[in-house]
Amino acid sequence: IHYFINGNVKPPCPLPKGPSIREHCKDLVLTDDQLRELMSKLLAAINKGLNKDTNKDAIVKCFPTYVQDLPNGQEKGKFLALDLGGTNFRVLIIYLEQNHFKMESKVYSIPQDIMTGSGTQLFDHIAKCLADFMRDNDVASERLPLGFTFSFPLTQIGLTKGLLAQWTKGFSCSGVQGEDVVRLLEEALARRGDVQIEVCAILNDTTGCLMSCAWKNRHCRVGIICGTGCNACYVEKSENVTTFPNDSGKPYCIINTEWGAMGDGGALDFILTEYDKQVDSASINQGKQLFEKMISGMYMGEIVRLALQKFTKQGLLFNGQGSEQLFTKGSFLTKYVSEIESEPKGTHTICLSVLAGLGLPHASEQDAINVRYVCECVSRRGAHLVSAGAACLINKMDFDHVTVAVDGSVYRFHPHFMI
Ligand code: GLC
Repeated sequence: IHYFINGNVKPPCPLPKGPSIREHCKDLVLTDDQLRELMSKLLAAINKGLNKDTNKDAIVKCFPTYVQDLPNGQEKGKFLALDLGGTNFRVLIIYLEQNHFKMESKVYSIPQDIMTGSGTQLFDHIAKCLADFMRDNDVASERLPLGFTFSFPLTQIGLTKGLLAQWTKGFSCSGVQGEDVVRLLEEALARRGDVQIEVCAILNDTTGCLMSCAWKNRHCRVGIICGTGCNACYVEKSENVTTFPNDSGKPYCIINTEWGAMGDGGALDFILTEYDKQVDSASINQGKQLFEKMISGMYMGEIVRLALQKFTKQGLLFNGQGSEQLFTKGSFLTKYVSEIESEPKGTHTICLSVLAGLGLPHASEQDAINVRYVCECVSRRGAHLVSAGAACLINKMDFDHVTVAVDGSVYRFHPHFMI
């Protein structure tokens, strides 16, 4: 981030490993000029989203969140929270006391058939998990306030009302797009009738990330998620957001940029590689979320796999002998990228065991070095893209000091994904 704002700290390039692989990975390595071009395109896209006259055609929608105050660390109480939008769905109970908190949580899976089934099934499943959780935590008879982290693009109409603009990240439940998801949750709870809750806010995970950091850090003004998806929110002057009624007259509001959609109108064509295009055409939301697809955990492993597949077919890896797994979509998990890069340079134990697991037991040390280089190019490119995005927001804001809150599985588990 510092580099893009001040232009004087050059991120080191990875050590060259095998000249031909390096040559073939060139289009995965972004130049400073390309990153600067991205910054200016993103800024233009954000400004288009913030303006009511241009928002309709904007790609980066910049949804106002109705969150206009940041916490001050003095908040108290017992709250429930739901977190839907990654690979897992979490239910939490949080006890906030002055300056410290206690929390219990449980992770539930969202089976694939529910992710792509009907909205009713999805919300019935959520309501069931919530009711089970409340029972397990002895609060089933209490009426508790609930914050609903719903990590998808949402057109908010208030703090507790939000219409799903569109699904992202592999979800496609029917009957939800255009609907108020708080109402859908409340109706599912009413169908059960066994627990009482009061939804007090619906928010994006980026907003949650910003707010939880701001609870302790008063300079926190940007929230970024690099997980299954990738997105950012930031504190904007209300006067710059003509799409927002601002009935309260407060000077700032948090904007959920939904920057993952950047590029959907062609703005990223100058840096898209053949692998990005292949990932996109094999996805359930073709032509959408192109920036997110270059960065986030849902796609990073697959980008690496597509490059490895190509290099194998060209005879540059594994003596030209691939395996069925290597040539199967989705087989190279993003967590392998983190695992391979976590290994000290010069050792290849993890990499070779990942490759053996993919049906490539005869991979050589040079293969391992080359595979690691491909992983590094893809993850580094993702980190550079997010850094350029963060720098764009920081430059746009008019604060002397900005802390950026970051969370998400890629950020947490990848050893070098520090933006
Ligand atoms: C996707 C969602 C966005 C969310 C992000 C990270 O981009 O559209 O709302 O914040 O993933 O989970």
